[in-house]
Amino acid sequence: MSKASLIIIAIDGGAASGKSSSSCILADKFNLLHVDTGSFYRHITAELLRRAVPATDLAALKVALATLQFSTRLAGRSAQMLIDGQPAGDEIRDQRVNEHVSHYAAIPEVRQTLLAYQRGQVGVAEAHHFQGLVMEGRDIGSVIFPAADFRFFLHADPVERAKRRAAEGRQDSIAERDRLDSSRKTSPLVCPNGAIDIDSTHQSLDQVVAVMSSLIATKLTPA
Ligand code: C5P
Repeated sequence: MSKASLIIIAIDGGAASGKSSSSCILADKFNLLHVDTGSFYRHITAELLRRAVPATDLAALKVALATLQFSTRLAGRSAQMLIDGQPAGDEIRDQRVNEHVSHYAAIPEVRQTLLAYQRGQVGVAEAHHFQGLVMEGRDIGSVIFPAADFRFFLHADPVERAKRRAAEGRQDSIAERDRLDSSRKTSPLVCPNGAIDIDSTHQSLDQVVAVMSSLIATKLTPA
């Protein structure tokens, strides 16, 4: 399969909007590489916190970023980012990382560091004979793959999203992260022009996936 024939699906949306659940189902259904870019920002955040490099110290940040070596390994259909050969630990979902990640993610140098790596996931999908990739995040349809075959933007009422996180037994700073992610200058969280906007507040995950699948099936045969 040539690179040109790989299907790219971008799913953006706020915290706990259903991106990960829908992406995973689509990845299984259509044999796609699943790429959770939020986990990349979380992993970098955990690494910078471990090295005690604050988001406020740009000079130290640049030095640290220049030393990070990224590689990828697969966990099922999901791409795991390794930093200096190490996978992310469970701490990337902890409240400490929740509280810091949007501050690091707002820094252009941090985003620039991940840009080529994220685009390079097409090569990973190709090397592992996937039909394409489904990448979730905040700026996938706007910045990373503006010419993606499908660009979805998921949103849901903040109260409903907080309930979803609580049901997962996880503490999160959903509202604060959304506020920071939407208001930053570089690659803010926005529904890109022309993206398919889906409000999942009153829809089940199955319903959301059904809408996405019916569109994707116009280009791709289920695996
Ligand atoms: O998707 P998740 O909620 O795990 O993302 C964690 C954080 O990573 C977001 O709140 C945001 O600050 C950052 N992020 C980003 N751009 C992306 C993906 C995530 O800024 N494409």
